[in-house]
Amino acid sequence: SYEKLWLVASMVLIVGFIATVTYGAVGLGIAMIDDSESSIDPDGLDEDERFADPRVAEMDDGTYEAYVVAEQYRFNPDPLEVPANSTVTFHVTSPDVIHGYEIVGTNVNTMVIPGEVATMTVEFEEPGEYGVVCNEYCGAGHHGMEGEVHVV
Ligand code: CUA
Repeated sequence: SYEKLWLVASMVLIVGFIATVTYGAVGLGIAMIDDSESSIDPDGLDEDERFADPRVAEMDDGTYEAYVVAEQYRFNPDPLEVPANSTVTFHVTSPDVIHGYEIVGTNVNTMVIPGEVATMTVEFEEPGEYGVVCNEYCGAGHHGMEGEVHVV
């Protein structure tokens, strides 16, 4: 009957709308804020809006977000540059194996586990240069896996 046809047609429309909304939200990274802090597809960093382009970004409130990829055997970006007298929240992840992320002389010192995003906040006051080291054995190049944070 026509009634049944209309019912089916409207269901198709509703499913279509939901699919569109879901795709739009996920595609823009809006719906994933809650769980994206801790879990991420390690094979999908290239498509992740935070980690496809590792960087330091200034927020509307004047704080900074640093998106860092730790991979065999480097940190990206490197050197990482932040302004003096700034509050920086680091988000660090790995596409390959477990690494460490320690900014020597700060409270930033964490394991970096593929599939997870490590998040921590640090305040930088004076200008200076900090060494970054990987303190988890991650392979043959582990001992050379170093970076720098420049506070300018
Ligand atoms: Cu990366 Cu050790």
